[in-house]
Amino acid sequence: MDLFEWDESFCTGIPHIDEQHQRLISMISDLDKADREGTGGLLISYVLQELMRYVTLHFEEEEQLMMSYDFPGLVSHRQEHDFYVMRLKHVQESYHDGDALSKNTLAFLKDWISCHIKGTDQIYAEFIRTKTGTVKSN
Ligand SMILES: [Fe+2]
Repeated sequence: MDLFEWDESFCTGIPHIDEQHQRLISMISDLDKADREGTGGLLISYVLQELMRYVTLHFEEEEQLMMSYDFPGLVSHRQEHDFYVMRLKHVQESYHDGDALSKNTLAFLKDWISCHIKGTDQIYAEFIRTKTGTVKSN
């Protein structure tokens, strides 16, 4: 499987959001690595827990940001966030019940976040950039 790394195509032009996205991608990458190297269940369990904590925090920050700029797409954006949190919770529960992380699960965690950042997040980011008159640096 290809390495999952942040690159400019993920850029939103909002520095603290880009930093959080980099961290999220790096956490999912750690999960992928731990799974591939068979590093052990404790590490995977810890990374899943950290991912849940961080993704929740990040989504809340994004939602606050959208709210503060009166972004009209907040409701549907929030629904996407809620869907990911629900799926991640399910992944965590099945893992604790003894199911291994499947390739499909890892692919879902990576693909969803990738599509979300490159698609849905770009919409609110462009809205905010237009409102604030800022441009993407890349
Ligand atoms: Fe988002």
